[in-house]
Amino acid sequence: MDLFLKGKTALIFAGTQGIGRATAELLALEGCKVAISSRKQENVDKTLDDLSKITGSIYGRKCDVADLDDSTVFIDEVKSKFGDVDILVHNSGGPSSGYFEDFKIEDWDIAYNLILRSVIKTTNHILPGMKNKKWGRIINITSLSVKQPFENLILSTTFRTGLTGMVKTLSQQVAEYNITINNVAPGFIKTGRLEHLASEIAKQSGNTIETVFESMADSVPAKRIGEPAEVASLIVFLASELAGYITGSTINIDGGRYKGLL
Ligand SMILES: NC(=O)c1ccc[n+]([C@@H]2O[C@H](COP(=O)([O-])OP(=O)(O)OC[C@H]3O[C@@H](n4cnc5c(N)ncnc54)[C@H](OP(=O)(O)O)[C@@H]3O)[C@@H](O)[C@H]2O)c1
Repeated sequence: MDLFLKGKTALIFAGTQGIGRATAELLALEGCKVAISSRKQENVDKTLDDLSKITGSIYGRKCDVADLDDSTVFIDEVKSKFGDVDILVHNSGGPSSGYFEDFKIEDWDIAYNLILRSVIKTTNHILPGMKNKKWGRIINITSLSVKQPFENLILSTTFRTGLTGMVKTLSQQVAEYNITINNVAPGFIKTGRLEHLASEIAKQSGNTIETVFESMADSVPAKRIGEPAEVASLIVFLASELAGYITGSTINIDGGRYKGLL
């Protein structure tokens, strides 16, 4: 199936590990010019090295999505190298896990900046180019917690539900420009982030990390943890020409774990 992605410029924030990394690889395989960033230069270098085996059209450098000014500079660099960004995948590391009383007001500010404010700033910076071209795809990585909140992920749930509302509203304002904006909401996916969360649960419960992973898998109707490549496939489809009539949506990818109807 041709996804009509050849020659498109794709920018993936936090694209050096896990879901972001798998997405960068798949977009490169589909013929996109691919730009990636993350906080650690060594992760960027390793990813660029791997991507160079797929395509020569790659760019990346260290850039923390929580640094909003640097994120817009990075977008401008990508634009001068490859032309206007056609596809923006806004990913980041997840905010700290914990309960309401674990956090000071400053922690809420940090999570707001990382999860919501950064998407507002980068989306705002990228939209004029997309509007000019009358084509664009914006995909934000959120979490199943926006539909089914988890008690120890209050920062994630609070700001990601805000993001969900922002995306729904904005999608209606840009749809006539052939710009779609959607969220992908993963359940349990086998990445460094999940390992970190599982080790915290193991510490608190006194169980081994293997037992925690087993009980996570057992709680999923599909009886397994998902793969980053499976999430990447959904993101790449949403980025494609074929998904032009899907906008304002939050799509779960969770092996059936979400228990609600809508
Ligand atoms: N895995 C799951 O089960 C799951 C479930 C629900 C939601 N999610 C969400 O999906 C997103 C991706 O998670 P993942 O599981 O793929 O995590 P991961 O494997 O830990 O990868 C995170 C990536 O983000 C980069 N990164 C972290 N903080 C960053 C920042 N401030 N600025 C730029 N890059 C940053 C990391 O590289 P550097 O260390 O070099 O910065 C790395 O490339 C997260 O927001 C997470 O909350 C994941």
